[in-house]
This record gives sequence, C-alpha cells and structure tokens, in this order.
Amino acid sequence: MRLGFLLLVAVQALGSLGLPLVYSNASNISNVSSASNVSRVEQSVIVGTSNGFFWPQPETPFPSWLTDFTGLTEWPGIDPPYIALDFIDVDRLPKYEPYSLDQCERVPRDACSFDCHSCLEPDDIYTCPKLSQTFDDGPSGETEALLGKLTHKTTFFTVGVNVVRHPNVYRRMVEEGHLIGTHTWSHPYLPTLSNEQIIAQLEWSIWAMNATGHHYPKYFRPPYGAIDNRVRAIARLFGLQAVLWDRDTFDWQLSVPSLRTTEDIVRDVQEWKTRNGGLILEHDASANTVEAATRVSELLGNDQLTVAECVGGIDYIKKYY
Ligand SMILES: *[C@@H]1O[C@H](CO)[C@@H](O)[C@H](O)[C@H]1NC(C)=O
Ligand SMILES: *[C@@H]1O[C@H](CO)[C@@H](O)[C@H](O)[C@H]1NC(C)=O
Ligand SMILES: *[C@@H]1O[C@H](CO)[C@@H](O)[C@H](O)[C@H]1NC(C)=O
Ligand SMILES: *[C@@H]1O[C@H](CO)[C@@H](O)[C@H](O)[C@H]1NC(C)=O
Ligand SMILES: *[C@@H]1O[C@H](CO)[C@@H](O)[C@H](O)[C@H]1NC(C)=O
Repeated sequence: MRLGFLLLVAVQALGSLGLPLVYSNASNISNVSSASNVSRVEQSVIVGTSNGFFWPQPETPFPSWLTDFTGLTEWPGIDPPYIALDFIDVDRLPKYEPYSLDQCERVPRDACSFDCHSCLEPDDIYTCPKLSQTFDDGPSGETEALLGKLTHKTTFFTVGVNVVRHPNVYRRMVEEGHLIGTHTWSHPYLPTLSNEQIIAQLEWSIWAMNATGHHYPKYFRPPYGAIDNRVRAIARLFGLQAVLWDRDTFDWQLSVPSLRTTEDIVRDVQEWKTRNGGLILEHDASANTVEAATRVSELLGNDQLTVAECVGGIDYIKKYY
C-alpha cells in the first residue's frame, strides 16, 4: 500500500498546499458539437497492439516500486489490470450508466457529457486567452519531426502504451520545456468502461509517465473528448483536471484527402486568429497531422501558451527528481 499512500498524499496536498483545481469559468457551449464526430472515425493510435500483446516492445524498464505495489513485472497490454488504491472507494462514485459511441440519446443531461452535449463543468479547461496548439496520442516517431520544428512551448497529451514504447521522445518533450498531460493508458472510449477499468486506464498512464519522466501529471484529456460526470469524478480523485478544446482542426480527417486537406486547416486557423484566443486540438501520431501542425505553428508563431499557462495552473502535481 506504499504507493497508494503516496498517491493519497499527492492528491490531498492539492488542498493543503493551496493548489486547488483552477477554474476557467467554463460555460456550456454549443459549437464544440463536433466532438462526437471525432469518435466515429479517429484513426487507431495503438498501432501494433492486439490481444494484449505489445509491439513495438516497451522500452521504459518496469520499475521496482511498481512491482512492490502491483506484484507485476512487466507493462500490461491494452487492457490494464485494475489495482485498488486505498483513496478510491468505487461505491461512492456517481452512478451514471455507461454508454458507448452512438448512444448519446441514452445519456441524461445531468451527466454533463462533453462528447454528446458539449457540456462543461466549471473545472473543465477548454479554451485559452491566446490561441494555442495542443497535441494528442503520442509520443511517436512522428513526434520527433514536430519537436524539430516547434519554437514555442506546447502541450502534449500522451498515451501510456506509447510513453513506454518511446521513452526517449517523451523525455525530449520534457527537456525542451513542453508540458505533458495524460491521454489514458490505451485510448479507449472511457464512458463505456466500468469504474474499475477507468481507474486502471488512469493509474497505469500515471505510472508510465512517472517511470519515464519522474513526474505526476496534473492535466487529463479524455480520448474522443468523451467525458461525463462519472469519468470526471474518477479523474478528480487522482487530482487530474480535464482539458477539452474549443477549436478542432479535424486533422484526423487528413488521412482521407476528400474529407480534409492541410489547406482547409490553414483556412480555419486564419479565421480563428481573427477571434480572441482558443485551444486547438491536433495530433502528433502520424506524418500528415504533424505536417499540418507545422503549418499551423508557422501561422500562429510563438505567442502561444501551455495549458497550465492558459489557466495560471501548476505543470505537475509532483516531480520526483
Ligand atoms: C472567473 O470568474 C471570477 C469571478 O467572476 C473572476 O474573479 C476570475 O478571474 C475568473 N477566472 C478566469 C480564469 O477567468
Ligand atoms: C452545464 O450544464 C450541465 C447540465 O445542465 C450542468 O450540470 C453544468 O453545471 C453546466 N456547467 C456550467 C459550467 O454551467
Ligand atoms: C460559437 O459560434 C459563434 C457564432 O458562430 C461564435 O461567435 C463563437 O465565438 C463560437 N464560440 C466558440 C467557443 O467557438
Ligand atoms: C457530425 O456528424 C453529423 C452526423 O454524422 C453530421 O450531420 C455533421 O455535419 C457532422 N459535423 C461536423 C462538424 O463534421
Ligand atoms: C513515482 O516514482 C517514484 C520513484 O521515482 C516513486 O518513489 C513513487 O512512489 C512514484 N509515485 C507514483 C505516484 O507513481
């Protein structure tokens, strides 16, 4: 239970150190309705993982502190085991029904689903005073090409299985001053999962980040923007703050040229620049989205913020060394 205790200390410290969740004064917004479309088509980001087997192999060594705590000796596959934590009582979580893709009609409004109803809670971050890029799904080989081009600090939401496969890319992100948040262990549609499965997705992603980058993340972007009050309640127990977006490049559609081109994205970004601020959703796991991201970065220049800077929040809950 040693690790459970440490996690508990981290989460309690939020209150006692006067570092509560930062409120971005979100209000429910109607034009982010595109979120649910992402879920239907977004490319698979867990390339090479099937039936619980890992390819390419993890490179981050499985640390002894994690063996002490879990009794395991290697990183799990896409279905990570639930490890009970003494600060989480699953019976006290809100009792919203799980739902899957295309079941939005079953989701009650008071579940405050972002992907179904563009609903936001006051502690959700979804915009930024300066128009700023964010990147999901890495780290990947493509991330390195992006890092070579970026001349400003940005925010990456990484997938745990990719973190342990590409630890050097992950550490390069950190060394170059970028902020990293979690995008779960293996990118599932969280509202479909049981409480225990959601907990497993978050705890293993945090452990992968700690084993690789020696820090405990503060920010969490739900895959597909799929979050409701059950998922939020679990994320908050880990001290995580949800980060959504209000500007969507739909860059995943670039893989189908009839759907979207880089020029379409450039045109949207030029229009966004005429407004006030915004948080842009992009992806760093494939060559075409990285190429578009480079164009966007050139258009926006370096006057961008990380998500922590957008809300005046901390970068990480804890750094270990
Ligand atoms: C949120 O609203 C409060 C009160 O209206 C204000 O003091 C605070 O600065 C706002 N926070 C942000 C991040 O805009
Ligand atoms: C958004 O709407 C939901 C459901 O009506 C409500 O629970 C939630 O508090 C609202 N969020 C904000 C920030 O007003
Ligand atoms: C929503 O759309 C309206 C009208 O098109 C626009 O004025 C507003 O800035 C948009 N808000 C967001 C959050 O995109
Ligand atoms: C989202 O999907 C619906 C139905 O599939 C479609 O009518 C709508 O135009 C799509 N919205 C965007 C922004 O792509
Ligand atoms: C993070 O890693 C350190 C070792 O670097 C370990 O002592 C600590 O228990 C870990 N904490 C979490 C929450 O993973």
